[in-house]
Amino acid sequence: MDAGMRIEQTLNRAVMRGETSGCPPRLAAAIRHAVFPGGARIRPRLCLAVAAACGGDAPEVTDAAAAAIELLHCASLVHDDLPCFDNADTRRGRATVHRAFGEPLAVLAGDALIVMAFQTLALEAASMPLRLPGLMLSVARAVGVPTGIVAGQAWECETSINLELYHREKTGALFTAATVAGAASAGADPDPWRALGDYLGEAYQVADDIRDLVADAAEIGKPVGRDASLGRPNAALAQGLDGALDRLDELLAGAAASIPDCIGADTLDALIQSEKVRLVPKGVARRAA
Ligand code: IPE
Ligand code: IPE
Ligand code: MG
Ligand code: MG
Repeated sequence: MDAGMRIEQTLNRAVMRGETSGCPPRLAAAIRHAVFPGGARIRPRLCLAVAAACGGDAPEVTDAAAAAIELLHCASLVHDDLPCFDNADTRRGRATVHRAFGEPLAVLAGDALIVMAFQTLALEAASMPLRLPGLMLSVARAVGVPTGIVAGQAWECETSINLELYHREKTGALFTAATVAGAASAGADPDPWRALGDYLGEAYQVADDIRDLVADAAEIGKPVGRDASLGRPNAALAQGLDGALDRLDELLAGAAASIPDCIGADTLDALIQSEKVRLVPKGVARRAA
């Protein structure tokens, strides 16, 4: 089965567990809306690619970790789009969860997805119980305090934002969890994989900042120009478009160079190169070329 299908099937099993009788139907629908159809699924794809590069001896454990990470990402988007954060009307080319179902159900759907992530890990990685605590901890570290997504988003409530921590925590941490959990799910030492996640996470936020500045809302399926209007730090606003594109190149080169010597190095390198093309808005790619 290819990586995309493995990811969609594991996510669907997780969402379906919440759709049985007893769950209020509109909440179940809001949760499904948040997860399907997905975006690029870049974090779970990265997790699977790292596990494969490490020999991938337990695909069900890797799938569980990858799905948990994607469910947490979806939860973070639902909450991030709420009026009290970025107040966004569209996500992935359609209405955000609170626009489609109302704010109370968006808050609850995000909460449910966070819990569902850890349930999925516990249920689907049960064949390798000794790997479970490490996986739980590396995934949890990426989303909570002191240095996960919750912490990253909370910088927006401080009087001054530490930009490096803001980006690393709100975006980078989950990429690092994807590489670390990918290796750990395959029984490999996760430490050599941390740098790849760190580089890709930072690259991803720089690319998102570039898209916020110059992309077309229809092309990326979410509002643009939000960082300037909300007064949020943005790498492309701070360094200029060329500066941000140079930084993106530098980070992606760092990511490629950090791949440990392994059987799947070529596949991972190809993933990074395809992300480079995908992440830069089309008009900008032409100009840079
Ligand atoms: C968007 O993430 C939020 C950021 C962390 C920048 P993605 O661009 O990965 O969103 P989807 O899942 O593909 O829609
Ligand atoms: C979102 O960052 C990071 C999350 C933790 C969800 P942004 O607010 O910059 O991402 P988009 O542009 O809404 O996808
Ligand atoms: Mg935000
Ligand atoms: Mg946002």
